[in-house]
Amino acid sequence: MAEPRKYKYLPERYPERRELKNIDVDRVVKYLLSAFADEVIAYYMYLMAAYAVRGNVAKELEDVFVEIGRDELEDHAKKLADRLQDFDVDLPDFRDLWSLSRCKYPDLPEDPYDVDGWLQAAVEAEKCAIKHYREIYDYVVNKDIVTEEIVEDILEDEVKHETIFRTLISKARAK
Ligand SMILES: [Fe+2]
Ligand SMILES: [Fe+2]
Repeated sequence: MAEPRKYKYLPERYPERRELKNIDVDRVVKYLLSAFADEVIAYYMYLMAAYAVRGNVAKELEDVFVEIGRDELEDHAKKLADRLQDFDVDLPDFRDLWSLSRCKYPDLPEDPYDVDGWLQAAVEAEKCAIKHYREIYDYVVNKDIVTEEIVEDILEDEVKHETIFRTLISKARAK
């Protein structure tokens, strides 16, 4: 099997970014890469959930998982990819996503009828995303306003996602 393609990650060649002030650009790029990997993996986890869940509410949940997964990929991952492009950094090889990801995904239920278990896993995934974005926000605030705004928008969505999944849990097991 071929080695993962080395994506273009050349700190010494980052273009000059005049919108930045007093910040370690390499650290920003690393945050963007890990968040991008998180988003692609979250999309995949929700796609898996959409197809795995069985039972009388399966159709309704499938729609929710597909719709939220679409947010992760088409909105969040895209915004992060656009920002990476500002630094002239290519998207990572697919095989590198798992190691780059901070959140990866939590343990998933083996029972397809364990609807609450699938929802709880989604709540856990969103909580990790919120924590990760909060950390990135704290680092970039007032120093990289473009990334700050992207992270703020995404963070707002992750909070909404967490609420949606949590309120769909039928038994009182969400923490
Ligand atoms: Fe997301
Ligand atoms: Fe999310």
